[in-house]
Amino acid sequence: MGNFPKGFLWGGATAANQCEGGYLEGGKGLSDPDICTGGNHTTSKRITPVLEEGTFYPSHEAIDHYHRYKEDIGLFAEMGFKTYRFSINWTRIFPTGEESEPNEEGLKFYENLIDECLKYNIEPLVTISHYELPYELTRKYNGWTSRLLIDLYVKYCEVLFNRFKGKVKYWLTFNEINCGTMPLGNFLSLGILNDGTKDFMNQVDVPQLRFQGLHHQFVASAKVVKMGHEIDPNYQIGCMIAYSTSYPLTCNPDDVLLTQERNRVMNHFCGDVQVRGEYPSYMNRYFEENNITIKKEAGDDEILKDGCVDYYTFSYYMSTCQTADPEKLTAGNLTGGAANPYLKASDWGWQIDPKGLRYTLNEIYDRYRIPLMVVENGLGAYDKIEDDGSINDDYRIDYLREHIEQMGEALKDGVDLIGYTPWGCIDLVSASTGEMAKRYGFIYVEKYDDGSGDFARRKKKSFDWYKEVIASNGEKL
Ligand code: BG6
Repeated sequence: MGNFPKGFLWGGATAANQCEGGYLEGGKGLSDPDICTGGNHTTSKRITPVLEEGTFYPSHEAIDHYHRYKEDIGLFAEMGFKTYRFSINWTRIFPTGEESEPNEEGLKFYENLIDECLKYNIEPLVTISHYELPYELTRKYNGWTSRLLIDLYVKYCEVLFNRFKGKVKYWLTFNEINCGTMPLGNFLSLGILNDGTKDFMNQVDVPQLRFQGLHHQFVASAKVVKMGHEIDPNYQIGCMIAYSTSYPLTCNPDDVLLTQERNRVMNHFCGDVQVRGEYPSYMNRYFEENNITIKKEAGDDEILKDGCVDYYTFSYYMSTCQTADPEKLTAGNLTGGAANPYLKASDWGWQIDPKGLRYTLNEIYDRYRIPLMVVENGLGAYDKIEDDGSINDDYRIDYLREHIEQMGEALKDGVDLIGYTPWGCIDLVSASTGEMAKRYGFIYVEKYDDGSGDFARRKKKSFDWYKEVIASNGEKL
């Protein structure tokens, strides 16, 4: 027998803005990703506050999950999913974020989707905010820089918690909240659009605004954790961190210290606040050296203390190396750093490091001692449909197998790992590049970057492989 515990939550993950489409259907308002054009590995997607006629916006139709969720969930059930991680698009519930009453049609859509999961005994795992801020909140308030967003978010969550009580148990407050510690997080996770920003990958960055926005998200998340437990004591409410483990490039103590700083600021800071309920002392020096002053209101510290998360989840795609020597800064990894000479990279330059997942799981579990879930992992790759219609994605199977093996090792190490939801279990739009060509799924979707495609679904080779993995509870890899 393998060593995955009974009841382990095998499944897959998506996000509304990357798969639903139907961008103005059912009363939905415009959200931040809806104003992003397509892009690719070498050309950044653009942010266009006014929609341009004739320009392709990938989120507008995405993979049409909005109309095809029953077919998709049916396929997930065929693979044996125990859980499905999806997100709720805030603008389906509150189209501008500021309405006094929620949009019933939006709530009904998610209720139907949740019921469809429950029909197959698939446990819904709901991300409340996955890079989907109502655009009106960006336009009027520059996103999370405004404290007003805390109450708007709490109101949104209150509606969800009451409506889906008894149907949903697992919630995540913010997807990859630590993106806010990096310039990339400005628009993506904080809805901040500073003057002059056009390219998604090259945003005008004001660290003071980013970290203040992050503080507002921490307070909002903590308030919601407390409220959720009051509404339903069975609710399990977690954090979600984009974890990109950093190794020192060499044993030069300068590299080691820099690595420690990067790991603290980019990987640990948000988890420390959300799990331990307070700002870690190491951030004081970082704030001072970067001229950042966090404006807290009276009571914020107590709110953080009262709203510690129940479990910790993270995405894991790659690791990176840190070097204090600017000449050795080579890498293509999304979060910067230097390339690791011992690792290969994906076609998008993300360095593949399965053992890094075991290391990371141990690091996090040692730090917090609460249940963990890997809620994103996977290989973005170019897939090809063969003449006979098959899609032989052995490279993806290899990637996932090696990561699952390392999760098994971490379980042996004593880590309390409770679930695994590989990213983009069905092909969807890439968050960083806005393209369809970067595919992660077990299910291929016939949709392409020129806007063509009829959305037909096809099983890849990995579909049957993952089905076996789940059926054998991780034994048959
Ligand atoms: C995570 C996000 O950062 O990585 C997802 O939560 C995203 O939304 C995923 O899609 C993979 O990144 P990308 O850029 O390849 O889509």
